[in-house]
Amino acid sequence: MTCARCCCVMHMLVVPGYVRILTGLGKTYLRHPSLASACALRHLTRQPARPYFRVSQAPFLLHLAFVPSRPLGPSHSQLTTTTHCPLPRVTKAFISTSPARPDSLPSRMGQKKPFERLPQDVNPTNYALRLQPDLDKFTFTGKEVISVQVQKATGKVVLNSVDITIATATFRAENETKELSTSDIQFNKENETVTLSFPSDLPTGAGELTLEFAGELNDKMKGFYRSKYTSPDGQDRFCAVTQFEATDARRAFPCWDEPARKATFDVTLVVPKDRVALSNMNVVEEKPVPSRSDLREVRYARTPVMSTYLLAFVVGEYDYVEGRDADGVTVRVYTPVGKSEQGKFALEVAVKTLPFYKEYFKIPYPLPKIDLIAIADFAAGAMENWGLVTYRETALLIDPENSSSHAKQWVALVVGHELAHQWFGNLVTMEWWTHLWLNEGFASWIEYLCVDFCLPEYDIWTQFVSTDYTGALKLDALKNSHPIEVPVGHPDEVDEIFDTISYSKGASVIRMLHDFIGDEDFRKGMNLYLTKFMFTFLFQDFRKGMNLYLTKFMYKNTFTEDLWASLGEASGKPVDKIMSTWTKQMGFPVLEVSATQEGTSRVLKIKQSKFCAEGPSEDDSSLWMVPVSISTSQSPATAVKTLLLDQRETTVTIDNVKPDDWVKLNPGTVGFYRTQYSAEMLDRLLPAIKDQSLPPRDRLGIQNDLFALAKSGVASTVDILRVMEAFVNESNYTVWSDLSANIASLATLLSGTDCYPQFKLFVQDLFKLVGEKLGWEPKDGEGHLDAMLRSIVLSHLGKYGHQATIAEANQRLEEHISGTRTLAADLRGPVYATVLRHGDEKTYEKLLDLLRKADLHEEKVRILRSLGSVSQPELIQRVLEFALSSEVRSQDTVFVIGGATSSLKGRELAWKFVQDRWDELHTRYQGGFLLARLVQFSTSGFVEEVRAREVEDFFKLHPAPAAERTVQQSCENIRLNAAWLARDAASISDYLSTRARL
Ligand code: BES
Ligand code: ZN
Repeated sequence: MTCARCCCVMHMLVVPGYVRILTGLGKTYLRHPSLASACALRHLTRQPARPYFRVSQAPFLLHLAFVPSRPLGPSHSQLTTTTHCPLPRVTKAFISTSPARPDSLPSRMGQKKPFERLPQDVNPTNYALRLQPDLDKFTFTGKEVISVQVQKATGKVVLNSVDITIATATFRAENETKELSTSDIQFNKENETVTLSFPSDLPTGAGELTLEFAGELNDKMKGFYRSKYTSPDGQDRFCAVTQFEATDARRAFPCWDEPARKATFDVTLVVPKDRVALSNMNVVEEKPVPSRSDLREVRYARTPVMSTYLLAFVVGEYDYVEGRDADGVTVRVYTPVGKSEQGKFALEVAVKTLPFYKEYFKIPYPLPKIDLIAIADFAAGAMENWGLVTYRETALLIDPENSSSHAKQWVALVVGHELAHQWFGNLVTMEWWTHLWLNEGFASWIEYLCVDFCLPEYDIWTQFVSTDYTGALKLDALKNSHPIEVPVGHPDEVDEIFDTISYSKGASVIRMLHDFIGDEDFRKGMNLYLTKFMFTFLFQDFRKGMNLYLTKFMYKNTFTEDLWASLGEASGKPVDKIMSTWTKQMGFPVLEVSATQEGTSRVLKIKQSKFCAEGPSEDDSSLWMVPVSISTSQSPATAVKTLLLDQRETTVTIDNVKPDDWVKLNPGTVGFYRTQYSAEMLDRLLPAIKDQSLPPRDRLGIQNDLFALAKSGVASTVDILRVMEAFVNESNYTVWSDLSANIASLATLLSGTDCYPQFKLFVQDLFKLVGEKLGWEPKDGEGHLDAMLRSIVLSHLGKYGHQATIAEANQRLEEHISGTRTLAADLRGPVYATVLRHGDEKTYEKLLDLLRKADLHEEKVRILRSLGSVSQPELIQRVLEFALSSEVRSQDTVFVIGGATSSLKGRELAWKFVQDRWDELHTRYQGGFLLARLVQFSTSGFVEEVRAREVEDFFKLHPAPAAERTVQQSCENIRLNAAWLARDAASISDYLSTRARL
């Protein structure tokens, strides 16, 4: 729509029930029937019928929040809005879904906790923060002097604080000597806030709030917490570390703990003399503590303006390796004492990565140093604290002798991911957690670009397709998925969205957009659409847009629309319009395609509809703007035609196609949609899978789509089994890896049926040939991907009962234990799982012994995750009990229990165990994403309706707010499995027994 008085143009999508509008400076005219009667609006307006705003403050972008008194009608209704902006620079108005004050968010499932953002009347600008952890008593004391701007005179200051005791709080206005003490300090546990009440109003203007406080160095891996490590002389010791994202800085010091409340930080740590003490910035002063000869005080340089969730401290014992990047930034990788060698690989990657991002973003890394540090107890994989990135040991340390190829690749990806956040997330930060996906989706995309640059031999983009892309499609087909942009409020809801949608769907739609904006061939094939709203542009446009976005919002906060606006500006494309269809509505389309040959042309009919895991739904009206590309057997890797599908159906003609040629949608498997080919089109494609004339990403994509269609009842499962058999000659690691994931789903489905033994034979037959080709020993000149393929193939042959593989695995384990021949790191995972599955109590004891002797955390985790492969119920039960023993760190417990769910009996016992020990597990994880993982592992593999009800009933009685959506997704999955089995069990069984007799 266009402004009546100038030419500024806006496009808006409204999320039902809640509207937040960002405008530039100036006057905003709103004409929307629902808004006109909105209570918040009436309060602000002079003329309710034609609301009028004059904005007196002067930030570049202003947030105006309107909460309608009743929902705004159907989803994605258009809001009629015109804005006139007197400043020519500011011509956009955006709507976002961030919660505003003072109203609470609409409820998603009817029982959301009410939530308010912190008041804006007092704003922090700098925290002078002094902390003193006590590593013996597991406590800390702190003092902070917060420079604030009082925007509106108030007698109450509300900020976040959890599990902290505040001893004193005073306020002093600038240029005053008199201090005002609080008359009351009230904590609100539910809201995680503290209200400091003063006997009189704090005057507007600058002032200082001084607080003295104390807290516990907890063992929950959040806030300021303790982590246990073993010193080189074998003693148990503790270090103090932080994990603040998303909402746990408030556990370390009272603060305005919201991403938009940016400030600078002057950190001082008082620590034992002999300990390493790190924070985001470089040290500017170190001095003894006069009253305590055992302590020293370390003062760090002031940080840039940043969000609280990015602050970090570490106090412990470490060694490090150091390097410098091309611009002289000091890069250090901190490792446990005596293990600095293990930091070398990550250091190499980091030193290459920083200049790569500098070049990509066209902005240098802004701090003088960056530390990467391995923490023994760590809930997530890694955390991007600005200048001090923390990692699980397995995500940072590489031991050349004992680390697998997969571990190396993971380290490279995680380093690439966290360093990307130093720009995308830290320098420019989402305004609210609703836009978390901006951070995580983008970093999850660019980590691949970075690894592709540093380690091209990993063919990492193909791996993206089988990990992030297909993972996201799988989850997003559920009714219990959610849009990428999801209104969140309470911390429980924030924890919940660190999920596959934010990460993997986020990364996948960015990949699609990147491809779409950058693809030159696309321009040529798009005449039809060019006239409508597009211009031609070059590959660099994506980067140009990225640079625009980062420079414009440096040190600021953003909404999703800001990224689209910058990318749109650089490319001249309606990026916002296209991308809104992918980020504001959940799910994705399936494109049904059929073709007819007309002379030398192939005419394709393409129709989009929402892809639903439970099969087609008639009443869904969702539409996406889908960038579609098409390849043919004459041009398998490069699209011959590209178009933007923005309606339900279209017809496309491809010239110069011979009657026998195949035609395929989505070359490179970049578009975030599934394809359902007509039988004829599919028949032409299958030989191209067999002879591998289709590129790997395409072979993988066809297989994955077909599998999903079979699961949803559109295709037959027997057909997919036949297609799987077409892969016997497959040579690509990633294709096998993806196939394996689907085999695992089938195994789960069939494990309780009579045809399971025949299914095992089917899998053995599938993997035998590639197993023979690869053998057990690495061949001369073979690469990273061959090593990973061997690992997958041996795991499958072992798991599904291939006798020669089982015998060899046992033999090699004996040699490994006796020291005759050390098992190569890449073989250990498959060997451990194989021997355990087919072994007995003695085998289990042997592995436990190996575990206890292992020093490298990666090796411990490898064994821990394999333990659950045991087959005897008593042993499975032992594994489950062991998972909660003191020998297993809380960070790993969930994965040990997860390891037990690879068999039917294991799934039953693990779910029972989780129910029996729920209180203990819940207390251990206090909500959070590890609990959500546990729920997923222990519930999603069932195939009977009664289990779905059991799971629902259990969580009704034992609510787990941060896992609420996971529970619903699991139950949906169980029901999908039940329907699938009911539909296809007989035909699968017939097929498997017929082929077994051949
Ligand atoms: N910002 C996250 C860390 C995080 C995750 C904090 C969940 C709070 C809750 C970090 O950037 C991240 O995404 N880490 C990933 C690893 C990455 C390579 C996908 C993780 O921890 O799994
Ligand atoms: Zn991240």
